[in-house]
Amino acid sequence: MTTAVCPGSFDPITNGHLDIVTRASRHFDEVVVLVTGNPTKTSGLFSIDERVELIREVIAHLPNVRVDSWGGLLVDYTSAHHITALVKGLRSSLDYEYELPMAQMNRRLTGVDTYFLLTDEKYGYISSSLTKEVAKYGGDVTGLVPDSVREAMAEKYR
Ligand code: PNS
Repeated sequence: MTTAVCPGSFDPITNGHLDIVTRASRHFDEVVVLVTGNPTKTSGLFSIDERVELIREVIAHLPNVRVDSWGGLLVDYTSAHHITALVKGLRSSLDYEYELPMAQMNRRLTGVDTYFLLTDEKYGYISSSLTKEVAKYGGDVTGLVPDSVREAMAEKYR
């Protein structure tokens, strides 16, 4: 069985992330959406548990996708679970510059390979941080994040 991990901070998951996860689920038998970060840290809009719960709701229709969280090195998670593939989305050359050293470092550490999916043009400008900024000042994030996430963001900024 081939399993891939889609890692990220997912604070919160966007429609761009969800598109990458959905497309990855067609290429691998199983996909784990892995929320990385220190569970005791309070930085970020959502706690790690809240991010996991929001993701759980929006992947519920994808039978071969599940969500987990991890506070250590990504490669320690993949090695412990015998997972040899990571999947990430690339929106632009900026993402490439950011992702390349991480992919090379992860491969050097354990041999894990990183697969890159090009972000759909519809989602190329979406990021968690931009959606938070828009939502924080009362802008409409409909279509940028799943509806349940939009509602959770509105609740946080109320
Ligand atoms: O959503 P992000 O912030 O772009 O995700 C970056 C992420 C989570 C993939 C990266 O920060 C990560 O792998 N964190 C876990 C700690 C780790 O393994 N760091 C070394 C990366 S080479």
